[in-house]
Amino acid sequence: MDVINFLILCSLLFLLRLWWRYWSVTGGAVKNLPPGPPGWPLVGNLFQVILQRRSFMYIVRDLRAKYGPIFTMQMGQRTLVIVSSSELIHEALVQRGPLFASRPPDSPIRLVFSVGKCAINSAEYGPLWRTLRRNFVTEFINPVRIRQCSWIREWALENHMKRLKVEAFENGYVEVMSNCRFTICSVLICLCFGARVSEERIKRIEATLKEVMLITAPKLPDFLPVLAPLFRKEMKQAKELRKRQLDCLVPLIRNRRAFVEKGEPPSSEMVSPVGVAYIDSLFKLQTTKRGPLEEEEFTTLCSEVISAGTDTSATTVEWALLHLVLNQKIQEKLYNEIVSFVGEDGLVKEEDVEKMTYLSAVVKETFRRHPPSHFLLSHAATQETQLGGYKIPEDVNVEFYTAWITEDPALWEDPDEFRPERFLEGDGVGVDLTGTRGVKMLPFGAGRRICPAWTLGILHVNLLVARMVHAFRWLPVPGAPPDPTETFAFTMVMKNPLKAVILPRF
Ligand code: HEM
Repeated sequence: MDVINFLILCSLLFLLRLWWRYWSVTGGAVKNLPPGPPGWPLVGNLFQVILQRRSFMYIVRDLRAKYGPIFTMQMGQRTLVIVSSSELIHEALVQRGPLFASRPPDSPIRLVFSVGKCAINSAEYGPLWRTLRRNFVTEFINPVRIRQCSWIREWALENHMKRLKVEAFENGYVEVMSNCRFTICSVLICLCFGARVSEERIKRIEATLKEVMLITAPKLPDFLPVLAPLFRKEMKQAKELRKRQLDCLVPLIRNRRAFVEKGEPPSSEMVSPVGVAYIDSLFKLQTTKRGPLEEEEFTTLCSEVISAGTDTSATTVEWALLHLVLNQKIQEKLYNEIVSFVGEDGLVKEEDVEKMTYLSAVVKETFRRHPPSHFLLSHAATQETQLGGYKIPEDVNVEFYTAWITEDPALWEDPDEFRPERFLEGDGVGVDLTGTRGVKMLPFGAGRRICPAWTLGILHVNLLVARMVHAFRWLPVPGAPPDPTETFAFTMVMKNPLKAVILPRF
């Protein structure tokens, strides 16, 4: 460490001490926060968590058993209030929704990619978030638009099935996650930019977005911002990556703008008519504070949609397929349902999957047993309030640990078992996925910040599972049975990606 860094470190530690003594929520006077594990001076529980070298969610699971449904963790300068019971989550997100609908401050690196929180997922609860979310809901996922763009899914699924056949022929098995991720990503890119993009470019966009997710994952300065000056190298890398992200997406934005301005009819490359691509709505969007948006904001808003919709859905398909491979009876029951709708050699359409009750049960059971995210995105209260009898200050992260609800034996019978039938005649009947009528599972969140595209997410999962099971019988690779160990990679994925042998059904 050079002398300058040493001096910076000393002054930062001094500032940190001042902050802990006078401003920190848990370091200063007692303020009726929820209870929590005692922390070390200045850094709270941060290093206790780091030293455990386990996924954060496993640590939270243990703490929940000790401290109950609402507890506090002091992670450096950030205070986290973890909420995990069905009742408290419903109270916060649904009954008192607007109060808990904001987001906490972003780290400096995240701010680079969100251009100062100009994204639906990170914007604070207020006029900018309302404008962006309303535009997304009316322009991207209204039912008419979803139907209008069904040909995009058709095109991507056709390529998907061809790719599976080639991969199976070449390797003897297929890898589920990488194929599903690629297919969903190509659908979302086309929905955003109205353009049919080459495979090579889709791969580049997918890889760049993955890098963005990695670099924006929580790091030490997120919890100790006072140390940020020591992480100048990481900030430089983030800015370089942002430039590459812009280089990747801005040409698509410019091509589309030129096409929209000329008012041309769709072509083989520019396939969506003017007004149908998400970016078309962003070109016209006026925000109160920022005025019209620019290329930086367009890049952020389109990247957000592609990232938010890709891994979540692909993860779900992978877990569903795992259980179908492991349990051939469930797979055959599902296959028989699909055949009863479209025959052995028909084509599964979007309107078909909506009517398939067993498919819906399999997908819901997958969301229950393997929620793609174990926490919602971080929430924050819009003003100081109370929850569960404790004080919730405005400047703390409120983290909803929703995975616990689906593991809770008080809510689910044999929660570890994968049993789609529970959604037909059992403890899953009538469960509301949006949590409005009560919280029994919450894969998409609930209330103001609920995933705005949850119906589209379900459609992608339904279609992929139905098409893949209709076309092939899915079997374990001989001598290499699938390993259900999970690991966290932005979503909860299979540690060893699922590989399966596929036998054409007809
Ligand atoms: C299986 C698929 C999906 C799952 C499980 C899922 C899950 C979630 C969850 C848990 C949240 C956070 C809610 C909260 O913080 O309270 C969220 C937010 C969001 N999701 Fe999804 N999602 C899925 C698909 C999609 C798709 C396909 C898109 C876009 C095309 C999308 C766009 C968003 C956006 C923009 C937000 C931020 C909402 C806000 O902050 O107001 N998601 N999603």
